[in-house]
Amino acid sequence: MAVRLDIELTESEKAAMAAIPSTSWFTQFIYRNAESPIHPNRKLAENNEMKQAMVSDWVTESVKGKRVLDLFSANGGFSIMAALAGAKEVVGVEFSEERIKCAQFIASTLKSDCKIEFIHGDVYQIENYFDEPFDVVLCLGGLYHIADPAFVLRQIGGLTKERLLMQTSQVLPIPGNWAKFIVRRQDKTQGGMTSIRGGYGTWFYSPGCLRELLLHGGFDIVEERQPSILKRQRFPWFFASCEPLT
Ligand SMILES: C[S@@+](CC[C@H](N)C(=O)[O-])C[C@H]1O[C@@H](n2cnc3c(N)ncnc32)[C@H](O)[C@@H]1O
Repeated sequence: MAVRLDIELTESEKAAMAAIPSTSWFTQFIYRNAESPIHPNRKLAENNEMKQAMVSDWVTESVKGKRVLDLFSANGGFSIMAALAGAKEVVGVEFSEERIKCAQFIASTLKSDCKIEFIHGDVYQIENYFDEPFDVVLCLGGLYHIADPAFVLRQIGGLTKERLLMQTSQVLPIPGNWAKFIVRRQDKTQGGMTSIRGGYGTWFYSPGCLRELLLHGGFDIVEERQPSILKRQRFPWFFASCEPLT
């Protein structure tokens, strides 16, 4: 889903936006007088629409006046949502330099009071990046990319004061507490099977496994959401709004 911004771009901003490669636009942004390029994988739009529809109320309710950490921030779709919802400060962490540049461009057009920063880094390393915990942490669409999710969730636990909003993928069918790691065949033009480092491996967790992982990270699930049973096959997403255990 495109994010609509009630902002008019100058001619030089339009030119700067057109120069950003389309692969950087994980989320599309539509300005009053211009549209960003669309990511070449059109399925992403439908996927994003589902995610945003399922978490935008959680984001809006939890970030007002808060310091927010957006992990796996891509080109800033959820960081910008948090800034527009009144966050005091947003820090995104993303390891694609191109997506970071894209996110910085969008942030520069907002002229918002929110302090927005994007760190070109690895979520595996977050405990080395920050001295102070954040009020709210967004971990939307990323836990399935992480080779050791339990380790990363412990780090997230150490950085979350009030709320963690999490979205990841789940296995179908879903009983039990387990997970599988699937290495996908790459596009033919890229040749062969990829390694985990190639970034195409993905974790699929049972909801029971996710609950245990979140507990291990020091979180209590306050609310869970999943797409309706009919949509779950196409969008095997699991959403959790969590608070740190006291
Ligand atoms: C599926 S996108 C999710 C983007 C966004 N949070 C959303 O839900 O719309 C995942 C992003 O995480 C980034 N990523 C994957 N592993 C990462 C890591 N270890 N550290 C930082 N970024 C990572 C990818 O480059 C990609 O932009």
